[in-house]
Amino acid sequence: MSTTMQEMHTDIGLVNTIVARSALSFIDGEKGILEYVGYDIDDLARQSTFEETTFLLWNKRLPSRSELADFNSQIRANYDLSEEMWDMIVSLPRDASPMHAIRTLVSALSLEDPAADNPSNEANARKSLAMLSKMPSLIAGFDRHRKGLDLIRPNVGYSLSENFLYMLTGEAPTERMSRAMDICLILHADHGFNASTFAALVTISTLSDMYSAVTTAIGTLKGPLHGGANQGVMIMLQEIGGLEEVDSYVMNKLQNKERIMGFGHRVYKAYDPRATYLKTFAEGIAEDTGNLDLFTLSKKIESIMDREVGEKGICPNVDFYSATTYFSLGIDLDQFTPLFAMSRVAGWTAHCLEYLEDNRLIRPRCDYVGPHKQEYTPITQR
Ligand code: CMC
Repeated sequence: MSTTMQEMHTDIGLVNTIVARSALSFIDGEKGILEYVGYDIDDLARQSTFEETTFLLWNKRLPSRSELADFNSQIRANYDLSEEMWDMIVSLPRDASPMHAIRTLVSALSLEDPAADNPSNEANARKSLAMLSKMPSLIAGFDRHRKGLDLIRPNVGYSLSENFLYMLTGEAPTERMSRAMDICLILHADHGFNASTFAALVTISTLSDMYSAVTTAIGTLKGPLHGGANQGVMIMLQEIGGLEEVDSYVMNKLQNKERIMGFGHRVYKAYDPRATYLKTFAEGIAEDTGNLDLFTLSKKIESIMDREVGEKGICPNVDFYSATTYFSLGIDLDQFTPLFAMSRVAGWTAHCLEYLEDNRLIRPRCDYVGPHKQEYTPITQR
């Protein structure tokens, strides 16, 4: 049923608009609850793996032991890239920003897939699996290329997190490092209709293809108000330098109406449950790796923000403590957002697969506020 323009309401930024139904992630922004298919994020972070969480999002149920073993094998079998893709990585400008490179490379995966435009469920599931499994090769491959290092081929003996760290550094990751990476991937895997997921849905709703949807999403995630915030947090921590400067730094920003990266959320008006878990985890890993100063600095920023804007419901979000965690893992600042993308491929594709079950073109209206009945003057008379 369509509505007349007069009956429509304007909702700038879609703050109060529900655009579709989903059974994937539940968020209670007042109580600080996040569930994937009904499973509490805390339980998943403590007990699941990124692969199992992805199975959950794609199938809306947990796998049996044999299903998970089979799923892990399918992911590992898709780790490697074609020779053409490896060549493409080393043909990219070394000084390109990793997010631009990853967006380009994911898009390029479609070029060698003869079924890129096949809209069947099976083909879409296969493409989702291919993109998810190949992300570590794309991200780590580009990182080594830009540093002038030899590219490392994937190791199918490793989980996705282990394989990523291995391909990045060339060294076998410790259990603590790969667990930290895996937890970050679980915590970032899905989050309702966030901006990048919505962007992916807009693309898929035109009956375009999964590669285009994920490419759209990566471009959307890149912005500093969304996935780019984790890098922004790290830049801020480095700018501040010492504990004594935290107060004046934060107060200055707030007085100038600037945003403190890693704080605030469109949905959470309580502590982001992902940040709750990451805070504890970040402390442990920062201590292990000699980065406790960074954690102490983060805690001080949090206490000042709590004092100044806590009552407005502006709390740390997932990006705040993931920055310290990634830094402690030795990951470069501009790789933080690509890592977010590596994880969120699970959620983007899950939402696209779900939306396609009952697709409807997403096409909102705008409230036209420009002039009418303008008189056209020919160019020769202007
Ligand atoms: N620092 C200072 N003030 C803030 C912040 C912040 N980080 N976030 C919100 N506010 C204030 C804002 O100034 C406004 O105040 P007032 O009502 O006095 O004008 C009020 O809170 C509401 O802000 P808003 O911009 O209307 O809220 P929004 O829902 O449109 O924005 C947000 C949400 C995430 C864009 C915003 O909180 C922000 O810019 N945060 C910093 C960037 C960030 O950390 N982004 C990551 C989000 S979580 C992971 C992800 O989704 O990628």
